Amino acid sequence: MPKLPELQPQEKVSTHLLTNEVGAPVANNENALTTSSRGPTLMQDVWLMEKMAHFNREIIPERRMHAKGWGAYGKLTITGDVSQYTRAAVLQPNTETECFLRFSTVAGERGAADAERDIRGCAMKFYTSEGNWDMVGNNTPVFFVRDGHDFADLNRAVKRDPRTGLRSPQNNWDFWTLKPESFHQRTITMSDRGIPKSFRNMDMFGSHTYSLYNAQNERVWCKFHFKTQQGIANLTDDAAFALISKDRESHGRDLFDSIEACDFPRWTFSIQVMTEEQARNHYENPFDITKIWRHAEYPLIEVGVIELNKNPENFFAEVEQAAFNPAHVVPGIGFSPDKMLQSRLFGYGDAQRYRIGVNHNLIPVNMAKVPVNDYHRDGAMRTDGNFGRTPAYTPNSGGFWTAQPQVTEPPLDLQGAMWRYEPNDDPTDDNFRAGGDLWRLLLPAARELLVCNTANHIVLVTENVKYRHAAHCQLADPEYGEAITEALKLDYKKVKQLAKLSNMQLIAETLC
Ligand code: HEM
Repeated sequence: MPKLPELQPQEKVSTHLLTNEVGAPVANNENALTTSSRGPTLMQDVWLMEKMAHFNREIIPERRMHAKGWGAYGKLTITGDVSQYTRAAVLQPNTETECFLRFSTVAGERGAADAERDIRGCAMKFYTSEGNWDMVGNNTPVFFVRDGHDFADLNRAVKRDPRTGLRSPQNNWDFWTLKPESFHQRTITMSDRGIPKSFRNMDMFGSHTYSLYNAQNERVWCKFHFKTQQGIANLTDDAAFALISKDRESHGRDLFDSIEACDFPRWTFSIQVMTEEQARNHYENPFDITKIWRHAEYPLIEVGVIELNKNPENFFAEVEQAAFNPAHVVPGIGFSPDKMLQSRLFGYGDAQRYRIGVNHNLIPVNMAKVPVNDYHRDGAMRTDGNFGRTPAYTPNSGGFWTAQPQVTEPPLDLQGAMWRYEPNDDPTDDNFRAGGDLWRLLLPAARELLVCNTANHIVLVTENVKYRHAAHCQLADPEYGEAITEALKLDYKKVKQLAKLSNMQLIAETLC
């Protein structure tokens, strides 16, 4: 019989001592309970059963997109005065609000490398005095598609092929080029900004049009911008390949290390504002996420600064379980008729109820820092008091938790025939102008990179799809069209012919 080690009295209460899942001491954590030194393991080793069972359930589903990401805490400080536009307490002068940000790539799974050519997600949670405000944006001011119906397809096209399980540039470019509204975003993704050097070295955008309303209940439309104070820095394809071979977690490591070294990254927070009247007369649909509002027409108004200054203590608890939801706005900030935004208002909460559970808002990183009185009861993993004995219904005669009509949004006049509108039929819709403006803005070296990155990315794709993309480039700017035609070794005469066709004709001419 082996001799039992003697426990010192103080060890019996030490927090360093191993217990089982309900606090009882564990005698042995390395040797299974067997009938003899060569005998089989007994079911009676209940601690072993518990360890195996827990291990089997340690994984939760990854986010369907934006699966690979990193987060940090910080604060938003309001240095400007936008009280004429919004009553939101979080946006009032000199207000400081704690926040948590999660940055991500989009297409790669949880184990993907950080330095991939992709757009980057920038999800922000502000723990305001009026409840949580989540802003779930990207490092680009526009998006690939503009209708909720297209979102699942976009992601299936950039993720893995159903037959091979491989990433497929063919599926990727086929889908993109069948959606001409993706052109501007396609151009940004293929430009030098397609692989930021780090999360710290990129701008962030709310991308959608949101609304703000002030204390007099007057509404304006608004776009959110966050400009990096670290300066923009990007990686070339070659630099990224070299980096990935040494470090697949380069973005996460950079963010963590800089915060640990007290080199806190900062972004200048600004807004663009458009009145309801201006929106009615705007030459493009101001609620179309594939369009920008030009800064010369709608200048940036400085609002404040975001600083990230604290790393999470536990990656799973705080980053993996973080849940951001564009539906979470606070009084003074609202939605807009943006079709894509409207679809997102359902998508996130639904995903999180599946990914983390119905009570995910009770997880500390997601919890509001103000009282929550929502009458939601029960459900899996309800670990707080579940509102105790307070009434579970409303209205009730106890006067519990009544609605707050003083925060009602101003009415919005919406009219028009119910119809499935196709924006490509709208004569004001120009999918190529902004992408062309970007091309014209780029210096020669940046243009060369854009063309070269495109050629690298599209090399394995069939010729019909290459022609479709080249025709779009031609529509944006003939120089862009010619440069891409040359890099992809296509016939420029044919590209120019294709560029004269309508979208439907172009698609018909470039089917396989
Ligand atoms: C109809 C369009 C869209 C739908 C249905 C949609 C849906 C989703 C879903 C279900 C997730 C995973 C959420 C989770 O599991 O916690 C997600 C993540 C994300 N989405 Fe979207 N999305 C849409 C468009 C967009 C757009 C336009 C942007 C940026 C402007 C965006 C930015 C993000 C970001 C940054 C994340 C990661 C959030 C995090 O870090 O946890 N999405 N999206």
